[in-house]
Amino acid sequence: MSKTQSQTYFYRPSWMEVDLDAIAANLAQVRANLGAVQLCAVVKADAYGLGAIEVARWLEQQGVQRLAVVTLDEAIELRRAGVHCAILNMGAIFPDQAEAVVEYHLEQMAFQSDVMQALNARAAACGTEAVVHVKVDTGMSRYGVSWRDAIAAVEAFSHFRSIRVAGAMTHFPMSDGLDKSFALLQMERFKAIRSTLQKKGISIPLWHMCNSGGVLDLPQAHLDMVRVGLLLYGYYPSSDVNRPFQLQPAARVVTRIAALRTIQRGDTVGYGRRFMAEKEERIAVLPIGYADGYDRKLRNIGEVLIQGRRATLAGGLCMDACFVRVTDFPHVRPGDEVTLMGREGGEEISPHDIARKIDSVSYEVLARWGRRLPRVYLRDGKVTEIRNPLL
Ligand SMILES: Cc1ncc(COP(=O)(O)O)c(C=O)c1O
Repeated sequence: MSKTQSQTYFYRPSWMEVDLDAIAANLAQVRANLGAVQLCAVVKADAYGLGAIEVARWLEQQGVQRLAVVTLDEAIELRRAGVHCAILNMGAIFPDQAEAVVEYHLEQMAFQSDVMQALNARAAACGTEAVVHVKVDTGMSRYGVSWRDAIAAVEAFSHFRSIRVAGAMTHFPMSDGLDKSFALLQMERFKAIRSTLQKKGISIPLWHMCNSGGVLDLPQAHLDMVRVGLLLYGYYPSSDVNRPFQLQPAARVVTRIAALRTIQRGDTVGYGRRFMAEKEERIAVLPIGYADGYDRKLRNIGEVLIQGRRATLAGGLCMDACFVRVTDFPHVRPGDEVTLMGREGGEEISPHDIARKIDSVSYEVLARWGRRLPRVYLRDGKVTEIRNPLL
């Protein structure tokens, strides 16, 4: 984006570009692969950092009929922003929060009888029904009624007159690794529960367990619906999964060189003096730091793209700035764009590349880009919207 554009809408010379066309293209490919299986788009954690409201609105325009978040606040934020489609809150709630589920017409993941009771009572008082997806814990040990007790629990839940059990869900702790044996065991547990309930005459419309890894590698587990996040944003969940799609990375984090300096042999750079020049070096100061989600562990090893080439960080990261060695880039000037994550020219620094260096996962790298970075939404390469919560 041009200098004038960026200064029109925000002053921060560091931002995230979000390519809405890339999201639409990724969605189309995933959908084409699913056939009749429904897709629930996961937009929790501010759509993995890309901006929940704008991404949710865009997905709704693309015909997505159900979104998933993990807190009531996230769900309410979307409702207040005018999102009309079904919103599933996959996070646990407490009984005294049942009111919000009913008021905002949310679908709620639930497994605790006190929460079910509260939802039932609230819905009855409002003359409506509360929509729940019963969570079954088949091996993640996070939320859900244990798969060992699921039949009795669902039977009990089916007696609540103001609750509609729209779905049954479980989650994989490891669907994107090479070894699928545990995921397959979970699937068997889940399917056995479904068939026992069916025999008892309890039919739940939507059974769902797959995340991105499951979508790619476990077609036999797609069931009625899949819950997809990462693939929509253009990234595979690991390097071990099938890669049938031409995914387009939707996010690009960009900054502009704020200052350039030449340092001499023996001079050091930044806090902790983690880089000491062995010869004359040219250092670019980038106005983005760990408070923006750029991890401190990248000191001296992180890479950025300048003029389509890789350059390496020098020294430690500050809260609001970091340093790059540009000795081999004689033509850089203050104001030049630098890509921290994403594509530039034929090169790419992916969230995986960053994750590998900091012993993390691409999910964390994406979700951590902070609110100080304006989100700039693009269609056909042109800015359609800008979100800057600060101004
Ligand atoms: C319960 C649940 N379902 C689905 C997803 C989507 O996962 P992914 O981004 O791998 O598609 C998540 C995200 O972690 C999740 O917590």
